[in-house]
Amino acid sequence: MSFVVTIDGPSAAGKSTTARAIAQQLGWRYLDTGAYYRALALKALRLWTAADDQAATRLARETRIEFSGDPSRAHVLLDGADVTDAIRAPDVSQGASRIAAFPGVRRLLVEWQRTLREREPLVGEGRDLGTVVFPDAEVKLYLDADPETRARRRHAELADRGLAVTLEEVRADMRARDERDRSRADSPLKPAADATVLDTSGWDPARQVEAALAVVRAHPRFPKGGDVPERAGT
Ligand code: DC
Repeated sequence: MSFVVTIDGPSAAGKSTTARAIAQQLGWRYLDTGAYYRALALKALRLWTAADDQAATRLARETRIEFSGDPSRAHVLLDGADVTDAIRAPDVSQGASRIAAFPGVRRLLVEWQRTLREREPLVGEGRDLGTVVFPDAEVKLYLDADPETRARRRHAELADRGLAVTLEEVRADMRARDERDRSRADSPLKPAADATVLDTSGWDPARQVEAALAVVRAHPRFPKGGDVPERAGT
């Protein structure tokens, strides 16, 4: 089994930045599990379906979700169509959090996610990677930050993408999603008992990545020689 790093935590705690940077610096596979729930939610929103577990699971079975391109900045394909940008919209975030509460959907998506643990080392991010998907991962990180820091980060990110939402809307959105992700019966968001918790409030991305990489490199089974030169053009 390959070396696995899991990064869990609430939205805008720094998971994506950290996971992508680790994957890129070490040349490892990157797994964005949120993208699965987002892509499925986008399809459900478009089709006005998946109101309950049975319908949502049926929809998931009829859906193909794939990633293409550079692992650290992969494009997301939904039934063959590129939805990389579309799945980041705020209504899709809420839809993803809703559809992710259905046990049948989770069972199927977790199964798909596990198949990606092949021969190469992997760094994955999500909500349940250290607790459910890869409970035997070598390194488990849980990233968190205070709610105001996270709301400001997400607001800036959305503004960068040209989405006009107010900070208050982002705060409300985040509160709703946090509450749902933490309180659902199946695989709620929580740190694994053996996770290293990093509070990234007040940290810039470089510090986050440095702190996470230090934990990864300190593992006794860290595959030495895993460092690869930066890819050209990245
Ligand atoms: O990480 P993200 O914001 O892209 O995730 C979107 C939603 O998907 C999140 O609110 C909860 C759900 N999710 C989940 O339940 N389990 C995961 N491993 C990843 C995401």
